[in-house]
Parts: sequence; C-alpha cells; structure tokens
Amino acid sequence: MKDYIEKIPKAELHIHIEGTLEPELAFHFAKRNNVKLRYNSVEELRSAYNFKNLQEFLDLYHEVSKVLVKEEDFYDFTWAYLEKLHEQNVRHVELFYDSQSHTDRGVSFETVTNGIYKALQDGKEKLGISSYLILCFLRHLSEEEAIKTLDKAIEHKEKILGIGLASSELGHPPSKFERAFDKAREEGFRIVAHAGEEGPLEYIWEAINLLKVERIDHGNRAMEDPELLVHLAKSKTPLTLCPVSNLELCVIEKLEDHPVKKMLDMGIMATIHSDDPAYFKGSLNDNYVRTAEALELDEKDIYKLAKNSLEASFLPEGEKRNLLDELKSFE
Ligand code: HPA
Ligand code: ZN
Repeated sequence: MKDYIEKIPKAELHIHIEGTLEPELAFHFAKRNNVKLRYNSVEELRSAYNFKNLQEFLDLYHEVSKVLVKEEDFYDFTWAYLEKLHEQNVRHVELFYDSQSHTDRGVSFETVTNGIYKALQDGKEKLGISSYLILCFLRHLSEEEAIKTLDKAIEHKEKILGIGLASSELGHPPSKFERAFDKAREEGFRIVAHAGEEGPLEYIWEAINLLKVERIDHGNRAMEDPELLVHLAKSKTPLTLCPVSNLELCVIEKLEDHPVKKMLDMGIMATIHSDDPAYFKGSLNDNYVRTAEALELDEKDIYKLAKNSLEASFLPEGEKRNLLDELKSFE
C-alpha cells in the first residue's frame, strides 16, 4: 500500500506554508535574522509540539513564524517544502499563507508574497510542480483588517488565485467575514474556508451559504447533519480533510474515528491533506498511509482519494485531465 501511495500522482490542497517550517530551518533563520525564539534548541522546540487543541498549536505556529523576515527566508522555506513534495510525487499544490501574521510584525506584504511566489515559479520550472497561492484571512482579527489585506491581494492579483479563512475557529464564524468575501468574489478570487474543524456544523452552512465557498477545509462536523451530508454529495463540494492534524489537535481521539471513509462511501468529494506537516509529524504520504492503516482502506479508496484531490483542484480542465489520465494507469 505504501508503495502504491508513493507512486500515484496527487494534489496537496490543504497546506499552510507556515506549517511546513521545520525546527532546524526555524533556528537557521532565527540566527540569520538575529531573532530570539523562546526555545534554546531544536529538540526543545520539537518537544513543545504537543497540543490539546487548535489554539495551543496556533500560539506556537505564530511564535515560530517570527523568524521569517526577509524575502529570501520566504523563498528558502517554500523551496524546502517543494522539494519534499517532489519526493512524494505530489504534482500540484494549492498553498495557504497567512500574510497578516507577518505584516502585523512589520514585514511587508510584498516581502512575504514575492518570496513564496518566486519559489513556486521555480518549483514549476525545476520540479514540474504546478501551484496556486491562496491567501487566508486570520479569523481572530477583524473584518476591517481582512478587507485591508484583500486590498493588498488585489494589487498582486496575478500571483494569488484564491482567498481562504483560517486561524481560531471557535467564536469567529464565517458570517463575521461576509462583506470581505463578497468583495473577494467580485474581484474574481476563488473562495475556500476552514469550517467545522473545531467549530460547530453551522459554520459549514455559513461558509456555503454566506461566503459561497467552492471547497470546505476540514468540515469533519458535517457528520452531525444528514441534510448537510446530502447537500455536500449532491453539490460535489470538496472537503479537504487532514486526518493526522485532526489527531494531533484532538479533533478526534484516534485515527480509527476519522470520518473520511464514511464520507467517501456517501459519495462526498473527500480528499486527504497534511495541514501543517512540520508540526504534526505527517507528510501528505504519511497522512495517506496512516489513514489507510487505521481505516483499512484498500487501493480503490486510495485511488479515489487521489482522483478527488485532482478533481477538487482549481487547475484548468486540460491540466486536470492530463494528471487524471496519468493517474488512470494505476486504477
Ligand atoms: N485550522 C485553522 N487554521 C490553521 C490551521 C488549522 O488547522 N493550521 C494553520 N492555520
Ligand atoms: Zn488548515
């Protein structure tokens, strides 16, 4: 099974670039930029990767992100991640980034966006990985700040395909950002949002009805509402699920409890992704392998998950078709 997972072409659609920053690289940037971390060594930092909930993780994730200062830092760590994707036969990536986490501490929007974008361009040229950038609003901040961020994204529209919604979910419903997303849609951005990870299932309905999302990131709690499950299956709205992340953030108690297999069997366009692999100790392929073991998935299920990942991507039809044709030889 591991072999099969490794060799099939796949797309990664739920990945926060800041969540790919490995401790070794974080210390390298800390030294290069003279930034002091609260931890004295790689081992000490890694041992803090033990979370009871989403907020505990986010506190550390934003803290470590402070080592990223110059455009070359954003380039270098994005490049390091692309090399990992290449090893895993990931052929297309749609990458989230949190510009507000950096602009709020004085790093310019251009430094962040250009560094990441240049690495993605090189990834296409040198590794053959196609990619899109999705800017996530931080939902614990205000809608006004989200709109200011959107105005910057509009200035850089040629580099940014979509707008998403991330960070602390509880108490920050999609409805808080309705106007910001209206404007994002009018500007032609593709729309996604995290919903129903820790937050209630109503947030999934809001993301669909108010933000008019094209995909839901996570969406585990859809399992509580049969009507929503039918709607997701009929509308083919993809759910980008992250099993190892769910385990590490205590959204589920054990991988055996993950809903992905049930969702597939209900005809929902479920996909598997890694979320924040540096923090959750799970690459994309690890997510596939561990989920397959826990839920006794067979090659057909894995094939379906990889196929869904390509179909749920924002690639143009022609490019999608090429990857799907390549996948077909593994059916
Ligand atoms: N949920 C919300 N925001 C995030 C996550 C997540 O799992 N990872 C990084 N930002
Ligand atoms: Zn996420």
